[in-house]
Amino acid sequence: MFKTAITEMFGIKYPIICGAMMWLCKPPLCAAVSNAGGMGNLTAGNYETEEEFRRAIHETRRLTDKPFMVNITLLPSMRITAEHHQIYIKVCAEEKVAGIEVSGTPLDRAAGKGAVELLKKAGVKLFHKVGSVRHAIHAEKAGYDGVYAAGIEEGGHPLSDDVTTMVLTPRIAESVKIPVVTVGGVADGRNLAAALMLGAHGVMMASRFIATQECLVHENIKQELIRRQEFETILFGKSIGLQGRALRTRVIEEIIAIEARGGGLQELMPLLSGERIKEAWENGNVEYAPLMVGQSIGLIKRVLSCKELLDSMANEAAACLARVGKIVQM
Ligand SMILES: Cc1cc2nc3c(=O)[nH]c(=O)nc-3n(C[C@H](O)[C@H](O)[C@H](O)COP(=O)(O)O)c2cc1C
Repeated sequence: MFKTAITEMFGIKYPIICGAMMWLCKPPLCAAVSNAGGMGNLTAGNYETEEEFRRAIHETRRLTDKPFMVNITLLPSMRITAEHHQIYIKVCAEEKVAGIEVSGTPLDRAAGKGAVELLKKAGVKLFHKVGSVRHAIHAEKAGYDGVYAAGIEEGGHPLSDDVTTMVLTPRIAESVKIPVVTVGGVADGRNLAAALMLGAHGVMMASRFIATQECLVHENIKQELIRRQEFETILFGKSIGLQGRALRTRVIEEIIAIEARGGGLQELMPLLSGERIKEAWENGNVEYAPLMVGQSIGLIKRVLSCKELLDSMANEAAACLARVGKIVQM
């Protein structure tokens, strides 16, 4: 039913890709998204050794024979170093994974042109998550196969250019020849139809996948995302040069108060540590650590299986596009 540059490139049913989620995008969810006809995500930062990472790829392949993406996040981190990045790149090339979602520093700058060549030679498709036209143009020049256009609505770390998905998608689509995928503010079939209208070849979403049966997160978190609305996320971290979007909670208010009075990274670190965030997902206490979700939570109404979610999104998008086709008669 869908034939876009993305479905053709990977041989998948739906142009719906799961975005990286530290602590959550592990083999069970990754395989469930791919088995449902989309593209699952294995987030490399979850694994600290070559063996663990390789085992996670093998475990995903045991659960699905469909393609999936690996995310490599090239952003400042206390835990994941440049050495980890080299390991991830090497293993992805050796294992010939279908594709890589890179975020942060472009691969050619962080790991050199050799890394791009190594991965391309192994047949790995390269995508960069960008928040601006200039970064999309750089990715195209560096040899990437596509870009994820991530607007300010997204969860995680949106670029501080603060451009919305609605404007960013067409601006990038008109500026590069490689396929563009819309990210940020996407959770249902209406968003998918809109993204296709804006010139994208598919969508990436992350927060929506948290409220699926296959996401291994505490049930409280899934219910909290259903309860919360689109205005209940907030940007923080501008003062330390790494903006993030998270659910509005007391801990986020505390972080923003520390930033407002000039408290630095040292004071913020205990509240922002990866271990603390991991614990919050596991124990279901939304007040314990920043939960990096996007404005798309306003569109989440029910916990579904990945298959129910993707099938219903595809049907809804098709219905939207058919309805619009009837409205416009030239
Ligand atoms: C819980 C969570 C963790 C995330 N972790 C990462 C990450 O480690 N690396 C990354 O590049 N993006 C990360 N992101 C960003 C997503 O991959 C994606 O770009 C964004 O969430 C899309 O917006 P949406 O959540 O509204 O769909 C994370 C997002 C969420 C919700």
